[in-house]
Amino acid sequence: MASPVAAEWARSRPRAAAPRPPTALVLGDPAPHLARALEDSRLTVTRWHRLLEPGQLCTPWPPPGPFGEAWARMPRSSLEAAMLLHAAAARVANGAQVHLFGANDEGIRSAARHFPAGTEDSRAVLIKRRCRVLVATRRSRPPRPDGLDSWEIRAPVDWGAGERDWTFYPGVFACGRLDPATALLIDRLPEVPAGARILDFGAGTGPVAAAALERGGGGAAAVLLEPDAISLAAAARNVPGCTMVPGNAVSAATGPFDLVVSNPPIHAGRGQSLRTVEALARGAPGVLAPGGTVVLVAQRRLPVARLLESAVGDVRTAGDRGPFRVWEARGPRGSPAPLRRAPRRNAGSGVTGRRPGQPYRPSM
Ligand SMILES: C[S@@+](CC[C@H](N)C(=O)[O-])C[C@H]1O[C@@H](n2cnc3c(N)ncnc32)[C@H](O)[C@@H]1O
Repeated sequence: MASPVAAEWARSRPRAAAPRPPTALVLGDPAPHLARALEDSRLTVTRWHRLLEPGQLCTPWPPPGPFGEAWARMPRSSLEAAMLLHAAAARVANGAQVHLFGANDEGIRSAARHFPAGTEDSRAVLIKRRCRVLVATRRSRPPRPDGLDSWEIRAPVDWGAGERDWTFYPGVFACGRLDPATALLIDRLPEVPAGARILDFGAGTGPVAAAALERGGGGAAAVLLEPDAISLAAAARNVPGCTMVPGNAVSAATGPFDLVVSNPPIHAGRGQSLRTVEALARGAPGVLAPGGTVVLVAQRRLPVARLLESAVGDVRTAGDRGPFRVWEARGPRGSPAPLRRAPRRNAGSGVTGRRPGQPYRPSM
């Protein structure tokens, strides 16, 4: 509902509010309504989203502009809202308007506090259908340097191989910590033979790929597939030298892989959904090397074994902890020997996997 409400304000606002230059930047709105309303008002619209979305720029940081005005869709966390509004305010000139819109249950009622210093007069200009459109005017440059770097969060993580500083950014999965399901998956990873190719599906900030590479014999290489450009930027710092693939389907990565690992997303919006796990199970045989292995972690009550069995092959439980289970499925045999289980506590140090060729360099 939030995008239609913002669109209503864009169509009905006083003419004096028309921006100069006649350009608008829309940040993080997956719905088309606002962008269409702005285009109908003869504005040239640039849409940016951190997640891969059709028709949107997907980069770690929005394009520089400058734009006549900016609109941001209320994101999931307060820190992410502050980051998005900072980026929005940095992309317009003094005197231009910065909008934030969202639904009550997304926290929009208390969101005016997220406008950065240098924007003033924030107010709700439309309250409707449990949504709000807030507007503030930029008076001076926002305080932080413009770019993702100034939002980096460094926090220690340890998956049993020693504590290390890890890079997170606002809005990434398990920001500031190691997720317990991820920790179990890492604990139960099979041994990774020398030269193995690994796909980390839904890589987030990269802990699973980093741990798998540490377990690997020399020359193992990892591909990290993830639809969130900001997570991939964090992963590029955490697991340098790997191949980063923006994508939301396993087919976006070029196989064959000896090992596909994942702590997959099991949510779509606010509800639980196995859609991505199903798609991963269906797509895995297309990228697995003969005899390759898929290792997934999820809540044990979910029917992951059934999905893997029907799509990939033999499935076994590789570990249980709390509500989580790790499943291991082996694709049709043929050539390589099955992966052996790694010791529970691996004292390996440093990331050994390096894929030849250009490392991923996020444009921030
Ligand atoms: C449960 S998190 C795991 C992140 C990371 N592997 C970890 O363990 O910390 C799932 C990740 O999958 C990503 N994701 C969401 N939809 C996806 C899709 N369709 N394909 C691949 N990854 C997806 C999310 O952005 C998120 O980073």
